[in-house]
Amino acid sequence: MSRIIVVSNRTPGKGPAAGGLAVALRKTLAEHEGFWFGWSGKLVDTPSPTARFEDIDGLKIAQIDLTREDHHAYYAGFSNSILWPSFHLRLDLATIESHWYEGYRRVNSQFAHALLPLLKADDVIWVHDYHLIPLATELRNLGVRNRIGFYLHIPFPTLDTLYAIPNHQELMRDLSRYDLVGMQANRDVTAFTEFAEHQSPSTLAGSPLETIDFGRTEVSAIPIGSDPDAFAKLAVSSAATKMTKRMDRFLGEQELILGVDRLDYSKGLPQRVEAYEKLLANNARFRRLVHMLQVAPPSRDTIKEYQETSDTLDAMCGRVMGRFAEPDWAPLTYVKRAYGQASLAGLYRLARVGLVTPLRDGMNLVAHEYVGSQNGEDPGVLVLSRFAGAAEIFEDALLVNPFDTDETAEALRMALDMPLDERRQRWQSLMAAARKHSVDNWSQSFLDRLSPPDGTESTSRRDILYLASVA
Ligand code: G6P
Repeated sequence: MSRIIVVSNRTPGKGPAAGGLAVALRKTLAEHEGFWFGWSGKLVDTPSPTARFEDIDGLKIAQIDLTREDHHAYYAGFSNSILWPSFHLRLDLATIESHWYEGYRRVNSQFAHALLPLLKADDVIWVHDYHLIPLATELRNLGVRNRIGFYLHIPFPTLDTLYAIPNHQELMRDLSRYDLVGMQANRDVTAFTEFAEHQSPSTLAGSPLETIDFGRTEVSAIPIGSDPDAFAKLAVSSAATKMTKRMDRFLGEQELILGVDRLDYSKGLPQRVEAYEKLLANNARFRRLVHMLQVAPPSRDTIKEYQETSDTLDAMCGRVMGRFAEPDWAPLTYVKRAYGQASLAGLYRLARVGLVTPLRDGMNLVAHEYVGSQNGEDPGVLVLSRFAGAAEIFEDALLVNPFDTDETAEALRMALDMPLDERRQRWQSLMAAARKHSVDNWSQSFLDRLSPPDGTESTSRRDILYLASVA
């Protein structure tokens, strides 16, 4: 059986707080004897060209360090100030400093050089996310012929937005060097295919474009999921119950409306608070009977646009407090801190409404985790943005346009008023969808497509195709 080599910018850390992705891939790596490769989290003056292996809770992890300068250009710069906002259709929040591209490629080349000596001929390489789009090209340039797959965890941009990204043509060519490109949703595959089919000119006047051949790359929607049954158990574990008891005491008669998101402008947090404000303004009967909790751990906080989102949210929460709070009632709690999965599972189970309203999102696993954590006898209601990849899976959520805060406020009202029968019915369908799209099924179906058919040498097909293409 081929080994699986997982590559991502961040590698899983120590301790029980590991996310669903780490848990799923841990299983895969245990079955296939592979390892996880990525950045160590350390910044040094002169990184060693060789990766260090570490055993983290039974998981083999190979890591490299980066220089501060390269990391800035690659991570805060090209990845998170150009690719992230553009892929989320927020060109208004992008900072286009095209020189960051060199640092981005340098780090991808550094990854490839450090990975090369660790590879065996039939290893299957699985690269994750927008930080590492050029990795296949860098590896192929070093002679690697293995099967290489890429999974994009965030949405793929529409054509006009793609054209605004510096070096987009080269990035698309990089994607054509993978054997399989997996995306979260059908809408992402449609946007990708539109580029692949039309490839209209977008360079400086006069320079002819060489058409990119995507003929050897399979592009497919393979939506990620969570482990809903594990969340069901976790939500009633003693660690979760500690949190639910605490919250229960605090809430009393109030129904909980819960949001859990990284503090990121793509999550639509100000719009969400505004929708809640409208709910209270339009429906005085809910005052004192509902409470909104927004958990928002800070993220990428060296980047100006993230600091501004944080400031906006502070102001909005303050405004809602000032407008509706009374000496003995607070309409909302806003927590800028991360919690472990057990505490979150407990909170999800307690929440009458899971409010998941990103302006655009690859999948959104909070939606899956919320569904998994519910009590089937008395489940809560998922209010979900139609612009999250999860909307293609969870048809029985209350789907909203997160830009329309009147609509979201009305969905909140419907969720709070929804009779038990309807809540149960909707939840059963959501839970079935969450199970069907579990994270295990996701990794299995990605690897089934990427791995060579049984009994063949993994390199042979690629070798033939590669030789054919250079001939
Ligand atoms: C998103 C991305 C991941 C990233 C995560 C946290 O989910 O798709 O690749 O790791 O955000 O962001 P950070 O910048 O802290 O790694």
